[in-house]
Amino acid sequence: MRHPATRTTMAIALVLVLGANNVLGTPAPIVTPAPRLEDAVAPRASACTFSGSLGYSSASVSKASCSTIVLSSLQVPGGQTLNLERLNDGTTVIFEGTTTFGYAAWEGSLFSVSGNRITVKGAQNSVLDGQGALYWDGKGGSGGVTKPKFFKANHLNDSVLENITIRNAPKNSFSLNYVYNLTVKDVTVDDSDGASLGKNTDAFNINNADGVTITGAKVWNQDDCAAINSGQNIYFGSGFCSGGHGLSIGSIGGRDVNVVSNVTFADSTVQKSQQSVRIKTTSGTNGTVRDITYRNIFLDNVGVDAKYSDYGVVVTQSYGGVKGMPTNGVTVTGFVLQNITGTVGSDAIRVYIECGVGACSQWSWSGVSITGGKTSPKCQNVPFGGGVSC
Ligand SMILES: *[C@@H]1O[C@H](CO)[C@@H](O)[C@H](O)[C@H]1NC(C)=O
Ligand SMILES: *[C@@H]1O[C@H](CO)[C@@H](O)[C@H](O)[C@H]1NC(C)=O
Ligand SMILES: *[C@@H]1O[C@H](CO)[C@@H](O)[C@H](O)[C@H]1NC(C)=O
Ligand SMILES: *[C@@H]1O[C@H](CO)[C@@H](O)[C@H](O)[C@H]1NC(C)=O
Ligand SMILES: *[C@@H]1O[C@H](CO)[C@@H](O)[C@H](O)[C@H]1NC(C)=O
Ligand SMILES: *[C@@H]1O[C@H](CO)[C@@H](O)[C@H](O)[C@H]1NC(C)=O
Repeated sequence: MRHPATRTTMAIALVLVLGANNVLGTPAPIVTPAPRLEDAVAPRASACTFSGSLGYSSASVSKASCSTIVLSSLQVPGGQTLNLERLNDGTTVIFEGTTTFGYAAWEGSLFSVSGNRITVKGAQNSVLDGQGALYWDGKGGSGGVTKPKFFKANHLNDSVLENITIRNAPKNSFSLNYVYNLTVKDVTVDDSDGASLGKNTDAFNINNADGVTITGAKVWNQDDCAAINSGQNIYFGSGFCSGGHGLSIGSIGGRDVNVVSNVTFADSTVQKSQQSVRIKTTSGTNGTVRDITYRNIFLDNVGVDAKYSDYGVVVTQSYGGVKGMPTNGVTVTGFVLQNITGTVGSDAIRVYIECGVGACSQWSWSGVSITGGKTSPKCQNVPFGGGVSC
């Protein structure tokens, strides 16, 4: 669609006023309604509100001049990132109403935010709708249509994500990478519509993190509820996870030597999930998993499809390799389980451990009491003592 030349000229002029770093990565200014000049030049005075189908690009252009950014019922076109990267220190972003992200076969992300002392929150009843059903083909991230990741928070320090509701993520929901001192509070990921065709709809993927606290998360999805690949000082508490692959450390390894240390999952329910407590380290790689605690975790697999429920607690060191042939380049020490209760599906293994020779040590388990399912005769290199049994 063509737009009046005058508008184009104004938008370009404003981009120049706002500085060159807004040009890179900003969608073509042609589709930008000229942001109000008073917003652009006010010294971070005002709350700026962006709305409707053109608001996404004005928000990207004007973000540096607003101390509070209100995104009101935005319709973000397919193939575009709602780009709130490099916000000024202390900026608050508020989603209002339903933000929809249009369809396009691309990698995403649909939304991206970075900065220091940033707060991103959802107003009451607000929803970020990724329209996953337009993408879901049962192949997730490993085939079929290319699907975008949803909510990227990279390079975010001393910040808060609060009350945000994501619905129908095409694939991964929150990607948290290079985050330091991040609080994620009362966030919902509802991909329950993807129960049959959704895949790889991880709720939280965490990498290169130091100091992340996630409390009150509610998740319905088809992959890990939380997956911690690298980082330290991470806490996940008072959560609810349903339909997915549970609370996971890993996968660990790969190109880098990964380290995950001091992670606690507490006071959470994992429902109708393939497994609930999981450490997965990649076959043939090196890394360190240290001081991991799961405390007061309830496994609610009543009514789960027996074929879907695989494990209650699982530690595998053959991930991506040959099952039953664990490797020992990643050490797993200080693995603490306290009060892990509930039930697994009738065909599931309650506890399964396959460690590489000498890789797992100094574990401490108490109150692990899981019903349903069966035991495995195939556990390997289970660390001696510490109340651990397989
Ligand atoms: C979070 O959402 C709930 C329910 O929509 C609302 O009652 C509460 O005030 C919100 N909190 C904040 C900090 O916006
Ligand atoms: C965020 O904090 C990390 C760790 O303290 C630091 O390396 C990084 O430079 C900070 N990022 C910004 C944008 O200040
Ligand atoms: C996290 O915040 C605390 C103080 O609130 C600070 O001492 C610490 O350096 C911060 N950590 C990182 C990695 O930024
Ligand atoms: C472990 O991480 C928690 C945050 O989850 C932090 O409060 C605690 O101080 C850390 N422990 C150590 C030994 O660093
Ligand atoms: C893992 O470490 C061993 C011993 O240091 C080394 O021989 C091997 O090449 C490493 N493997 C990878 C994938 O980095
Ligand atoms: C064990 O965990 C459950 C939640 O999974 C909690 O309700 C119960 O109070 C915990 N028991 C103890 C002794 O902490």
